[in-house]
Amino acid sequence: MDSTQKLDKTKRGWWKSAVFYQIYPKSFQDGNGDGIGDIPGILQRLDYLHELGIDGIWLSPVFDSPQVDNGYDISNYRDVWPTFGTMEDMKALIREAKRRNISIIMDLVLNHTSDQHPWFLEALKGRDNPYHDYYVWRDGTPDCPPNDMMAGFGGSAWTYIPQLGQYYFHQFTVQQPDLNWNNPAVRQELYDMIRYWVDLGVEGFRLDVIDQIAKEPDQKITNNGPRLHEFLQELSREAFCQEGLVTVGEAWGADVERAKRYSAPDGSELSMVFQFEHINLDQKPGGEKWDMIPLPLPQLKRCMERWQQGLHGQGWNSLFLDNHDLPRIVSRWGDDGKYRVESAKMLATMLYGMEGTPYIYQGEELGMTNIQLPISQYQDVEILNMYHHRMEEGYPEEQVMASIYARGRDNARTPMQWSEEPNAGFTTGTPWLPVNPNYVSINARQALADPNSVFYHYQKLIALRKRLPVFREGTFTLLEPDSTQLFAYTRDTEDAQLLVVCNFTGEPLSYSRPAEFADAELLLSNYPDTTSVLRPYEAQMYYRKKD
Ligand code: GLC
Ligand code: CA
Repeated sequence: MDSTQKLDKTKRGWWKSAVFYQIYPKSFQDGNGDGIGDIPGILQRLDYLHELGIDGIWLSPVFDSPQVDNGYDISNYRDVWPTFGTMEDMKALIREAKRRNISIIMDLVLNHTSDQHPWFLEALKGRDNPYHDYYVWRDGTPDCPPNDMMAGFGGSAWTYIPQLGQYYFHQFTVQQPDLNWNNPAVRQELYDMIRYWVDLGVEGFRLDVIDQIAKEPDQKITNNGPRLHEFLQELSREAFCQEGLVTVGEAWGADVERAKRYSAPDGSELSMVFQFEHINLDQKPGGEKWDMIPLPLPQLKRCMERWQQGLHGQGWNSLFLDNHDLPRIVSRWGDDGKYRVESAKMLATMLYGMEGTPYIYQGEELGMTNIQLPISQYQDVEILNMYHHRMEEGYPEEQVMASIYARGRDNARTPMQWSEEPNAGFTTGTPWLPVNPNYVSINARQALADPNSVFYHYQKLIALRKRLPVFREGTFTLLEPDSTQLFAYTRDTEDAQLLVVCNFTGEPLSYSRPAEFADAELLLSNYPDTTSVLRPYEAQMYYRKKD
């Protein structure tokens, strides 16, 4: 099986057969020993990614930024943060990736800028400044914000500027003022900037919190504002017009019906969206992400079924379990102890049998796990804000820390584990965030040397998806929806059928597969043989031709 099979990217919708890999640059590979990952570091690791078989890299923001939110606060959209490298490094990355048929997908933060962006600095100068209307302002007095809206990471969504007698609106931190999309000049600036990156050879974009751009704070609307689809269609026409670009929008507020519009096959908006319905199922209803409940498996299955069937032929799914905002999936829904390898492979198998475009988050292909740190060592603004807030509210510290261990974003942001060398081979200096001490046994070098590693399981799944059309085209049928242990489904085309069977628990499970699969080919599994029961976290994929 050739894992590095090339995709023809001149074909319309090439990204439907692609697998993407997300790089969080700060934590991927440090090239100069300052403890912070950088673009030259990524260049050193392109061959590793090529070996895995991916077709594109979603690069979390590398733009110039004060790094209040690790680059999701951009102060210059047309340059890279000097700590990450130079524009020359960036051009080399685009070129070297392309040589391996890997596309670079940039992460665009279009909802807000940094408060250090020249537009905002100008806007602060006066109500008459031409840039003032680039942001969202409301009149007010110091102790009376326009309303009680809260910011994403805690505190009011309004910050007062005394010299203007006005509040500006920010859905995230105080240092991330929201852009005013109702102003056509703002939109044109952003489209120009996007064309600049397209001209440099970038082949797609991930769009940060894109369903929040059309906010209407007077009506307390954050996502899915009234002009959202109008803005997206204009964005697509004006900036993504070049044939073949892939676009994926982050849309926390998306349901199936909305996602059909975002990812309509006519390409009028985006290629696909990241929606989060599945990943929120282990959150207490009505609670925040920090308030956890055990994953209700039947609900997860129904949710996946709804998305698989809902978008089939009418839109396109993205497939993911991890990213830089989420805890490590093997720690979350698998078992990061005894069955780490089995459960990491099971989770991948469950997802990669589905229709959509998969996104691997760096280290997921190694089965990297969550980490537990003392509060003083966490870096993430969201974790720190939540910690102070909940401590003030009188939550027991133990409970607050348990939430951080389970859900904190720094779980996913610890440095990539390359080898058993000091600091996991990530840096020769002091890493900006501690390396997970389990790097000694969980690392890329070890994975590449072990034919049964999680890495090779991903490599096989990627190759299978490219080889067999059923992965791309098959209809989805959920089996045994009520089982609290088993996640099984089939995919069907006219002439072939795929069966995916996963034991989601650490307990054995008796299971016999449907009769028509009795003689089917076993494409892949995570145990060396098959028996009459499914062992802990066992996963199997069968394939048959219909006669
Ligand atoms: C998105 C990003 C997240 C960031 C936020 C604000 O959710 O993924 O990392 O903090 O937007 O830009
Ligand atoms: Ca560095």
